[in-house]
Amino acid sequence: MHIVHIAVEMAPIAKVGGLGDVVTSLSRAVQDLGHNVEVILPKYDCLNLSNVKDLHYQQSFAWGGTEIKVWFGKVEDLPVYFLEPQNGYAACHWMFWVGCVYGKNDESRFGFFCHSALEFLLQKGSSPDIIHCHDWSSAPVAWLYKEQYALNGLGNGRVVFTIHNLEFGAHHIGKAMAHCDKATTVSDTYSKEVAGHGAIAPHYFKFHGIRNGIDPDIWDPYTDNFIPVHYTSENVVEGKSAAKKALQQMLGLQQTDTPIVGIISRLTVQKGIHLIKHAIYRTLERNGQVVLLGSAPDPRIQGDFTNLASRLHGEYHGRVKLCLTYDEPLSHLIYAGADFILVPSIFEPCGLTQLIAMRYGSIPIVRKTGGLYDTVFDVDDDKDRAQAQGLEPNGFSFEGADTSGVDYALDRAISTFYDARDWFNSLCKRVMEQDWSWNRPALDYMELYHSARKN
Ligand code: ADP
Ligand code: GLC
Repeated sequence: MHIVHIAVEMAPIAKVGGLGDVVTSLSRAVQDLGHNVEVILPKYDCLNLSNVKDLHYQQSFAWGGTEIKVWFGKVEDLPVYFLEPQNGYAACHWMFWVGCVYGKNDESRFGFFCHSALEFLLQKGSSPDIIHCHDWSSAPVAWLYKEQYALNGLGNGRVVFTIHNLEFGAHHIGKAMAHCDKATTVSDTYSKEVAGHGAIAPHYFKFHGIRNGIDPDIWDPYTDNFIPVHYTSENVVEGKSAAKKALQQMLGLQQTDTPIVGIISRLTVQKGIHLIKHAIYRTLERNGQVVLLGSAPDPRIQGDFTNLASRLHGEYHGRVKLCLTYDEPLSHLIYAGADFILVPSIFEPCGLTQLIAMRYGSIPIVRKTGGLYDTVFDVDDDKDRAQAQGLEPNGFSFEGADTSGVDYALDRAISTFYDARDWFNSLCKRVMEQDWSWNRPALDYMELYHSARKN
């Protein structure tokens, strides 16, 4: 089958959050099943080009009064076309030369991109079986394809639309839902949580929850260049203790064998900011250390965390570090060096950080919502639910959105570290051995693609 993703994020060259991870890792998993998968992406000036192999100019075409250059290269072994509009469109001279993925006239830039991506496929004579678009940013693909390009001779393809987060661009999402052949979101529980939403309800019959996976080659403590000692589940204790020392040293934390709670997150209301703040203090009170890596798109929240950081770094010197930035290498060291990764989201369509945490033998502490509910099973409360999935419990979780829920999960987690160390170590080994890759969900996507073709 020939599948083309049209997207505005792709890890590791243009990643803002999990959407970028999913475009790359789902594509790779489907490619590994023997299918022809391609990606079309804007050619941003901020692309991380060191991760693009054999990048070269391929051709130009004209659309919308604009010459569009097409570049081609390989990213993580995937063929990627980069579209670069050449001249005056709207307010920007170079519409993807604005130094960032989001934040500058996005709606019209991405609308133009979607249109030109379909035009590119048409002019190149390509006729994919599936065109897969993501979130509000490439939602226009769904209606442009159905209203113009399918009729214009761009083959007999089907459009699959994936919602990664319904919080943004509900209008675009509703419109894409009406036009796409199949829609998905990134976990079963989130698909039920949003079933009554105005953008979803009328189209629920074609809406499916398929939980995300992670790419086990990209996230692999056995080959990871950002951690000091490579490890598998067999030497997890040794590997993680070397990573913990390196992390403590790098961030100026005391070199003691205390539990480290790590948080790696966009700092937005979705991620449970008040619960994150509470958990930092609670962990410190319980003799733990805290490492937070995160940045806030909203300058007020960023400012708030900057103030919190200076207070905490003074008051609890050597026991807490807030790194208010985006830092891919540091994220790897935290996944490996922390004992726990906390994800207290208010809502979470899937969440990848809890899955990456487990791949590195760190224990997730999460709020029971969306994909967090589907992937983390509390060691005390969810034995039966885990067993029904053929799994052993793998973490700590809580229900409510108030601080007592955080305390319930965090206190048990930290006590386990201090009072039942052998059992805690066996839990680290166990979570590493669980399979949160795309093996299973990629097959679900293939089934969905096939059923879309039968429509
Ligand atoms: P979302 O897409 O809602 O932000 P996910 O859990 O799906 O949440 O994906 C987040 C991804 O972004 C993960 O790969 C995580 O490691 C990464 N990430 C988040 N914040 C940072 C940061 N400050 N530095 C590096 N990586 C980050
Ligand atoms: C979104 C969601 C997150 C999900 C990611 C990838 O950003 O917030 O829960 O894991 O997309 O699908």
